[in-house]
Amino acid sequence: MSTKPLRHLLDIESLSVEAIHQILSTAKSYQLKKTLTTPDLLGKEVCNAFFESSTRTRCSFELAAKRLGAQVINFDVKTSSTQKGESLLDTFMALAAMGVDAFVVRHSESGIPQFLSEHLSPTVSVINAGDGHHAHPTQALLDVLTIQQHKSDLKSLSIAIVGDLSHSRVARSQVALFRKLEISDIRLIAPAGMIPTDLRGPNLSHYTQLNEGLQDADVVIALRIQQERMKNAEIPNFAEYFQHYGIKPENLSHAKKDAIVLHPGPINREIDIASVVADGPQSVILQQITNGVLIRMAILKLLLNSQLK
Ligand code: NCD
Repeated sequence: MSTKPLRHLLDIESLSVEAIHQILSTAKSYQLKKTLTTPDLLGKEVCNAFFESSTRTRCSFELAAKRLGAQVINFDVKTSSTQKGESLLDTFMALAAMGVDAFVVRHSESGIPQFLSEHLSPTVSVINAGDGHHAHPTQALLDVLTIQQHKSDLKSLSIAIVGDLSHSRVARSQVALFRKLEISDIRLIAPAGMIPTDLRGPNLSHYTQLNEGLQDADVVIALRIQQERMKNAEIPNFAEYFQHYGIKPENLSHAKKDAIVLHPGPINREIDIASVVADGPQSVILQQITNGVLIRMAILKLLLNSQLK
């Protein structure tokens, strides 16, 4: 049976398990290549449209597109016509009319990438680079690639995600991806008020005690406290938060000896995680960033060449 190739990457839920493996194996093939650049997207135009700040995601999409031979436009929100009252859709339609093949979109409002995918010309691809609390699929994929580089049997892993789950699009995409890959022990560790109701269900367990949730974990993922998404009353006392939920050496000692530590970045040092852990031997945080380029190369290549099934 032939299925239509995917045009957009909006969330993990809309990817088949086959598509997920296709992305991961394409990323690995780029890792093995000796030369940095390949002509897989020669003649294509990619537009980065970030309505929220970003270092890792934006720069790695730009590098990924350039390494594939594509042209890149970095759309500057501050100096664009959206400041003159132009509608978001009109702005994107104008850019599409210039010949953009793919938009990489980050927005503080959930659902904007989906909206654009439904209203732009069907020849244009939309890639979600993080929308509100909703999804950040490329981050979850690069996290799995990083985990695979250290751990062989994914399904048997115990993975703990720690921190500000309620505001985290990263955690939502990670949970969706871990479930698709049939990882049976996914632990969510957060203060009681920070475990959102949509992150419940099969394969998920909740902990409010950090050390209990980390017991014998293979993978520990720390999340950033998302101050910009909090209403005033929610902002915790950071010293107290760090004491209870920051990943410190004494907490990590409850996980397996060979546990790896991830963080999507940017890191709030001595709030989400102690520097000795973030920079320590179990940390794979910089490797995640390196893998971000590979995953984004794979996604751009597969989507723009109509190869993602
Ligand atoms: C994440 C994001 O923006 O959602 N960062 C990232 O893309 N590397 C996580 C965060 O901001 O905390």
